[in-house]
Amino acid sequence: MRIYLIGFPGTGKTTLGRKLARALGYSFIDLDETIEEKAGMSIATIFAQAGEAAFRKKEWEALQKTAEEENVVVATGGGTPLFHNAMEWMNQHGLTIFLRMPIQQLYRRLSQSETHRPVLSPPDGLPLYQHIRNLLKERLPTYHQAQLIVDAAHISPPLINAIIRLYHDKTDSL
Ligand code: S3P
Repeated sequence: MRIYLIGFPGTGKTTLGRKLARALGYSFIDLDETIEEKAGMSIATIFAQAGEAAFRKKEWEALQKTAEEENVVVATGGGTPLFHNAMEWMNQHGLTIFLRMPIQQLYRRLSQSETHRPVLSPPDGLPLYQHIRNLLKERLPTYHQAQLIVDAAHISPPLINAIIRLYHDKTDSL
């Protein structure tokens, strides 16, 4: 069983992923961390030195490697499902869960965040809120291809545990 947590930056994929992995007794992979460790530099530096396309290639390679793990929770990056047909790939290789969050809350969290995310720098002085809105509009159709869509505010390891049991029951009876 592989669980792929997907969603916009700031939705808490890493925090929930860690808790979930602990509750399930699974291992945990944070895709961004894996990329940074392998490259020996931060994501912001990869973007600045090699560009976004190079980052997306590393991200895709790191994602494909997760197929070598059996019981694992993977926290993906906000852009992971958008490139290299990764959404379809994740749907084929595990259970995808989209953590949904209202834009007002995303904006609040991201404007207070200390993590530098290159994709969140608004172009041409566009206000951050508008930039988030544009990016969300572009990404939501892909995020909505997830097998499960849950409110980030209401999700918890026990709830996901129950969902996984239902998922197993369903696949066992096929
Ligand atoms: C990105 C989100 C980041 C990281 C990179 C690109 C994006 O991950 O992968 O900066 O395109 O939304 P988080 O969603 O964990 O912040």
